Amino acid sequence: MEVDITLRVDGEDRPLRVDTRTTLLDALRERLGVTAPKKGCDHGQCGSCTVLVNGRRATSCLTFAVAHEDDEVTTAAGLADGDRLHPVQQAFLDHDGYQCGFCTPGQICSAVGMLDELKKGWPSHATADLTGPVDADDDEIRERMSGNLCRCGAYAGIVAAIREAAR
Ligand code: FES
Ligand code: FES
Repeated sequence: MEVDITLRVDGEDRPLRVDTRTTLLDALRERLGVTAPKKGCDHGQCGSCTVLVNGRRATSCLTFAVAHEDDEVTTAAGLADGDRLHPVQQAFLDHDGYQCGFCTPGQICSAVGMLDELKKGWPSHATADLTGPVDADDDEIRERMSGNLCRCGAYAGIVAAIREAAR
């Protein structure tokens, strides 16, 4: 069954007709030509398709497009303010947080989402003290970014970039 929907992507309303079984990732990439989120595994295992949905990170291969009509979907391409990069994008550049770049848009969206989680004081499995603010230390960053794989192994740069962006 096909339905007409409008997705709000990177601040723009994008009307389209989709089969109700279309994932958000396929709607973005195949139907709207929004190629920042990448299809790595299509099974929720690699994180390369990560986008922000109303500011929270989501693996777009695991959710249907029709479920997001009223949501604000932000991809890594939509994070910059004109020519000015988002601080997380800039930090990835400054710290070589990538090699081939395939995983990078997902890593960046995930990093933006996790920094917001830290700001809100949401604990993770790595949080030792559940009573105070949560620090962006390396253990915390690695734990929270564990859903984003990098086949190039650029993890040292990724962690350094997020540590810097957190500051
Ligand atoms: S493509 Fe979505 S998690 Fe791998
Ligand atoms: S930079 Fe190549 S997969 Fe991460």
